[in-house]
Amino acid sequence: MTTPTGVQADPLALLRQRTSSKWTAYPPEVLPMFVAEMDFPLAPAIAARLVGMIGRSDTGYEPRGPGLGRAFAGFAADLWGWELDPATVQATTNVVVALTELVRAAIEPGDRVLLNSPVYYPFYGLIEEAGGVVADAPLALGEAGWALDLDAIEAAYADGVRVHVLCHPHNPVGVAHPRETLARLAELAAEHGVLLLSDEIHGPLAHSDGGFVPYLAVSEAARATGIAVTSASKAFNIPGLGCAFWVPGGEAAARRVARMPESVRHRAGHFGAHAATAAFDESRDWLAGVVASIEANRRRLGELLAEQLPEAVYHEPRAGYLAWLDFRPLGWGDDPARRILERGAVALSAGRPFGKDTGRGFARLNFACSPEVLEEGVRRIATAR
Ligand SMILES: Cc1ncc(COP(=O)(O)O)c(C=O)c1O
Repeated sequence: MTTPTGVQADPLALLRQRTSSKWTAYPPEVLPMFVAEMDFPLAPAIAARLVGMIGRSDTGYEPRGPGLGRAFAGFAADLWGWELDPATVQATTNVVVALTELVRAAIEPGDRVLLNSPVYYPFYGLIEEAGGVVADAPLALGEAGWALDLDAIEAAYADGVRVHVLCHPHNPVGVAHPRETLARLAELAAEHGVLLLSDEIHGPLAHSDGGFVPYLAVSEAARATGIAVTSASKAFNIPGLGCAFWVPGGEAAARRVARMPESVRHRAGHFGAHAATAAFDESRDWLAGVVASIEANRRRLGELLAEQLPEAVYHEPRAGYLAWLDFRPLGWGDDPARRILERGAVALSAGRPFGKDTGRGFARLNFACSPEVLEEGVRRIATAR
């Protein structure tokens, strides 16, 4: 097997001309390493598709027909051996909207909805917005790194949880849950009547040793209990274009969300749907290059921390480009991101929104950047001493 050549990140001067969240939230003296946007240039096939559409004033509503479902089914079969029916792919605006409406459709107000902290923090807000009450079965840190705590999950299911919002691969720790864990989770969900919503937006960014298996590819029990929610937006850096989709594992899972309003199915952006199709159909080499660059940065980050900030605890992620850093041994308080911003002029994501207790003393760093920016970032973080 040949090793894919990495994709080079854009230079800082060009990045500073971007007008997205990452580049407008802080003044120019701050190095932004927080929100999950990447510094790589767009995949050429996506750029060509969008430029072509603009040239033809092709700016109407999202396309009809099976294009997106067919493209994702082909991608999922080739990458993960997951055979899904393209007709079951339901497009909408973004993953957070899909999760909110799926939770709302599956519960009665006041029902308990499980997550696993520390976790992508909009999960808390969307569960509440949908009328649910958050229940938590925190991740456990073992010899092999961060993992789901199946005993805690089983206890929560037995305690009346209706829906489990799983982050797979898990943001912020960058772990794809192993097949055996998912299989057991599916058995437990079937036993306790829990609907499992698997947010797989980071799946295509699993590293060469990431071992990502889609939940719905695991077993019959998984298909009976699960709905996958995903998008091309994270892996191909196109969240601003507005397109995500969900895939019910089968009839039983689809019935659990049958009261989902029809309007949610018609809110994908036209550009987003086309960009996602170009991503899944024509941008796999680009993706392999981006993952190679991310993997190189993941190792480089370890070296830089070992040299300049050896007290910080870093477990190398195996999916995605986010590092969950434990600054507690440095005594930088509950919110090290604040100290790092003030003293080092680097913007990280604060840990506590990911978990009130489990995020205390942590911060999340985005390393989808050039090695030079990564080096500058760690140099600045180390000045927060
Ligand atoms: C786990 C997870 N889910 C969802 C999202 C956001 O997806 P969307 O922009 O489609 O709502 C992110 C963004 O970083 C994420 O990490």
